[in-house]
Amino acid sequence: MSFQSIESAFAVKGLKIVNEECFHKEEHFIYAVDRSSSLPKRSVAEIICSAKYFPIISEQRLDGNIIFTVCPYRKGRIFDMPPCATKEITKETLWDEIIKTRSLLRPGEPIIVQGKTIHQDASEFWKKHLLPRYALNPQACCLMTEFIDLAPSMGRVLDMGCGVGINSIPLLSKGWQVWAVDNDLEALEWYKSSALKVKSTCLERGQLHLLHSDILTCTLPGKSFDALICVDVLPYIESTKLKSLMDKIHALLVPNGCFVGSLMFEKETTSPLHEYLRKVGVHFYAGEYIVPALLKYSGFHIEECFQRLSSRAKHGVVQFRVRKMAN
Ligand SMILES: C[S@@+](CC[C@H](N)C(=O)[O-])C[C@H]1O[C@@H](n2cnc3c(N)ncnc32)[C@H](O)[C@@H]1O
Repeated sequence: MSFQSIESAFAVKGLKIVNEECFHKEEHFIYAVDRSSSLPKRSVAEIICSAKYFPIISEQRLDGNIIFTVCPYRKGRIFDMPPCATKEITKETLWDEIIKTRSLLRPGEPIIVQGKTIHQDASEFWKKHLLPRYALNPQACCLMTEFIDLAPSMGRVLDMGCGVGINSIPLLSKGWQVWAVDNDLEALEWYKSSALKVKSTCLERGQLHLLHSDILTCTLPGKSFDALICVDVLPYIESTKLKSLMDKIHALLVPNGCFVGSLMFEKETTSPLHEYLRKVGVHFYAGEYIVPALLKYSGFHIEECFQRLSSRAKHGVVQFRVRKMAN
């Protein structure tokens, strides 16, 4: 059964939304629902899904209420995400454009943005600041959520740069065999504890394989995957290595296998946020048109490719879901 709104989905269960705060105007909303102490988190999640929203439920309980964030479950439900612009570009020009793109990451050096020192060591920054916050980013995974809805169960998925697991843990709970790779041990620890909460037997039954490794060099002998996730990771990859990584992703998928990912492109280059992101290792490509061209020349058929909207962001993110073309 699906409902018109979050409110009516909860009302059917005799529950009332007691507080609603618009968080990012167009993107996601924070709600609080009462009587939460008797309501398991899983039930709250199911109610939110029935209204076709993606739930991120906070551990926090305030005055007996449960606090949760939702974001649109399907693109276009609350807002229309603009499709990614395309441009005719040859393969050679594409790779030239890509290779000349640089980040400003200087491992070991402080990150200074507009004269202010943000962190002493650029290479440590992700762990200390971004990792905890990332667990709450709902927008990054809306394509994955949609895919999970459509996908058959029991496939094999590889999550490259899995972080704390927001994209592949839902697949694990659906019965998929998951391989998750990250070069950050702390992220993998988070992943492991969240996964065990979802499926306590996933490790001993060999349903989850966590690999502490670099996605550029890791090997998965004899493995091929029905789906591959690389969300918010490709922008951190050195531009000179992007082509070999795309070839690797292509080779790891079965024909018609699904690949969900994202890349960033330049929008407003003068903002402090832009400078800061480049200093933590983000590569901003010349324009959004780079993304569909890159996917096409890497042997993929595009199913979805659009800009991730953010009212705050001055930079552009393109999200995509593509399929490996059968030869
Ligand atoms: C912005 S986070 C995204 C995490 C996750 N994909 C998500 O959507 O929540 C980037 C992740 O990529 C990982 N990462 C970046 N470069 C990597 C590399 N070369 N090999 C393995 N992991 C990498 C980082 O450690 C981090 O966990």
